[in-house]
Amino acid sequence: MKLLIIGGSGFVSGTLARIALEQGHLVTTVTRGQRKVPEGVQSIIVDRKEREAFAEAIESHGGEWDLVADCIGFAPEDARQDIECLKNRARHLVFISTDFVFDPSDRVYPQPEDGAYRADNSYGHKKRLCELEILNADTGNMDWTILRPCHIYGPGSLLGCLPTHGRDPDLLQKMKAGQPLALVGGGHFLQQPIFAPDLAALILSCAGNKSCQGGIFNAAGPDIIESKKYYEIIADVLGVRTSFVEIPVDEHLKVSPSQDAFLCHRIYDLTRLKEAGMKAPSTSIQDGLRLHAESLLNPR
Ligand SMILES: NC(=O)c1ccc[n+]([C@@H]2O[C@H](COP(=O)([O-])OP(=O)(O)OC[C@H]3O[C@@H](n4cnc5c(N)ncnc54)[C@H](OP(=O)(O)O)[C@@H]3O)[C@@H](O)[C@H]2O)c1
Repeated sequence: MKLLIIGGSGFVSGTLARIALEQGHLVTTVTRGQRKVPEGVQSIIVDRKEREAFAEAIESHGGEWDLVADCIGFAPEDARQDIECLKNRARHLVFISTDFVFDPSDRVYPQPEDGAYRADNSYGHKKRLCELEILNADTGNMDWTILRPCHIYGPGSLLGCLPTHGRDPDLLQKMKAGQPLALVGGGHFLQQPIFAPDLAALILSCAGNKSCQGGIFNAAGPDIIESKKYYEIIADVLGVRTSFVEIPVDEHLKVSPSQDAFLCHRIYDLTRLKEAGMKAPSTSIQDGLRLHAESLLNPR
């Protein structure tokens, strides 16, 4: 199929581009050209925030796509841009939202897609505004699907799922040196991380699937674990022992109030995704974290 990725050279979008190419799809990417795009894509260079330039770039490219994946929509204007510029050129739009749309202090376990949303100026609230933009728009003949991934991990990103070692560039070094890890809440918050290649497969599985048209879906991995388990699996890969120091939640929130979204159980009901016949994430946390850690230990 013909796939357009808004993004294409970063973590999620780069993983999607590589997997789509491996599967023989024709891939076009939209980036600002600051990072190398995977070999084999057709590259459009434009800053999506430059609205007129973006519209012109799409227009002059003239493409038509079976699937568009917007991996970098963060403001309602971005979602509006997808609809305005692509509804007559794409059969299906997949918009990558986030589990941070939910209010961390008002959750259900496992959390279904309908719930209490944040109402502030946060990243998660802005993603919810993007969702509403799409939900309420006239998208013409273009189908759409919104995916809400939780913690995404895998080669191409840093390791770490919880403050104070979220995406910690020195995590492996610290663990090898036997340094205790300081985790908020002692690392007891539950998580259901999704492996980036599984997310890519899920995105691709939306194309041509009428059951996911007009739907919002949680996107989480197959395993529910305590956050500390994530670090223990990495310790096993390294062949080291690890220990933890607990940072009290209220203490951490006083210094980093914007990190409240991390400080709740992040576990999700995947019934809707499975019933729609989409590709359910299946990589075990052990296998995924091993691949992730090894990619950092042996960079290519
Ligand atoms: N990471 C997580 O755990 C997590 C969890 C839930 C949801 N999400 C969502 O997953 C999505 C992907 O996140 P990611 O961090 O992996 O990003 P990404 O998809 O790798 O995005 C970065 C890409 O976008 C391009 N880009 C950035 N700004 C641009 C602009 N203004 N115009 C055109 N291209 C631009 C970058 O290339 P250039 O720099 O060359 O432009 C790069 O190719 C996001 O929507 C995020 O909210 C992430």
